[in-house]
Amino acid sequence: MSINRRSFLEKASKMGALGALSPTARGAVSPADSKKNAFVTGPYLQNVGPSEATVMWVTQNNSLSWVEYGAGNSLSLKEYRYRNGHVEANNKINKITLNGLKPGTLYKYRIVSSEILDFQPAKVTYAEPIKSPVYSFKTPGLNDEEVKLVIFNDIHDRPQTIPQLLYRHGYTGNRKDFDFIVFNGDCFDNVNTEKQVFDHLLNPCVDLFAREIPFILTQGNHETRGAFSRNIPDYFAYPTENYYYAFTQGPVRFVVMDSGEDKTDDNWEYSGLAAYDAYRVKERLWLEKEIETEAFKKAPFRVILIHIPPFHSGDWHGPLHNRELFAPLFAKGKADLVISGHTHRYGVHQPDANHPYPIIIGGGPLEGNRTLMKLHANSKELTLRMIRDDGEEVGKYAVKRTKM
Ligand SMILES: [Fe+2]
Repeated sequence: MSINRRSFLEKASKMGALGALSPTARGAVSPADSKKNAFVTGPYLQNVGPSEATVMWVTQNNSLSWVEYGAGNSLSLKEYRYRNGHVEANNKINKITLNGLKPGTLYKYRIVSSEILDFQPAKVTYAEPIKSPVYSFKTPGLNDEEVKLVIFNDIHDRPQTIPQLLYRHGYTGNRKDFDFIVFNGDCFDNVNTEKQVFDHLLNPCVDLFAREIPFILTQGNHETRGAFSRNIPDYFAYPTENYYYAFTQGPVRFVVMDSGEDKTDDNWEYSGLAAYDAYRVKERLWLEKEIETEAFKKAPFRVILIHIPPFHSGDWHGPLHNRELFAPLFAKGKADLVISGHTHRYGVHQPDANHPYPIIIGGGPLEGNRTLMKLHANSKELTLRMIRDDGEEVGKYAVKRTKM
């Protein structure tokens, strides 16, 4: 990213104008040419593993879309999305997975969309395709000794937090700065419209890093609310169809949990639309299996990402149900670190009689109380630093490798 582009984005974010900038600031559509096809958001990377990566974007108009990509500098390969024998087409939200990638390899890619002008049963008419610039990403290696990431939590519809904290705390705009970025729940107050998802999460990520660095949205209790919350999975890609899953990167097994809602399912606020008790029980069954896998057991370090911390988060039903179901398994599996948000009170809670693992809770969402966590693990040690808005380090935890 050029210096000018970076300072422009940072200035805009300080003015709180990032939302208002999108999407026209990225050369997308304006009301005057709203019928012209364009990339409304993206591309952004999801679920980048040693042998696969998912490229996502949204077009203005219904299109046939594909990714052109290749190792090194070539773009000789091409991938579409396929469903039930169909090549996905006549759609706007694109989720295209590149399979068969080589671990630890740099890939170049660009996205291409050709608007469908007319769709007849035996004849489809396409417009000239639109193409993005060429971007790059690197697949993790199978035996990488290192992983580094940053973790946000509880942004609550304040997208300016993303560039502000990233740039204040070491992001140089380079793909090599972090392997991936985590939003550990409650990016939104409620999720009401697609535009909100674009303006408050996807567009800031695309503008800052997500074309070349993947990110994860861990579901918080505020992502569960609002008229558009049920559409969220359309805009993200996960290793499975669930919001809870695990993956290994470098020396760390990451377990991403969904802690669900914070009140009882029959609370008036949910209007009869919450069923988190049964969901968490099902999730526990999955977690029981996960902690017995070779990948989990053999990993030098095990890190749990869960929005609602199982302790130090009050006595409402959600936190207590999470505690009852998940906390004993975190202990049984010998988790090295549980990373949470939700309470808006940052702190490092040392292992104790209740939880034989540290629980690190990030702050937010108001200025002066926001934190960014930086996690770095190598073959010998895992360290987490929590840094507040003003640059003050307000938490630190280190775990030495004991498992060989
Ligand atoms: Fe929360």
